[in-house]
Amino acid sequence: AFDVKLASSGRVIAVPAGTTVMQALADQGVHIPVSCEQGVCGTCLTRVLDGVPDHRDLYLTDEERAANDQFTPCCSRSKSGTLVLDL
Ligand code: FES
Repeated sequence: AFDVKLASSGRVIAVPAGTTVMQALADQGVHIPVSCEQGVCGTCLTRVLDGVPDHRDLYLTDEERAANDQFTPCCSRSKSGTLVLDL
């Protein structure tokens, strides 16, 4: 489990194991546009301001993954305890 923090409001939302970031956000009324929900299309791509994403998508290039500044909340997770999102 890890937390995501919404940069605009400072809100912290817990993401339990077995729950996607997208679902955890939606449960708190924060809806991100999604399409494939499988890490393929890139529709859900969200900017990361701090923390290290655990990329589980098939969309980003290796270079983009290494930059740690965006991730796909429909399937990717976090390697750090908190991921600060540009939301
Ligand atoms: Fe397609 Fe997340 S919804 S990559």
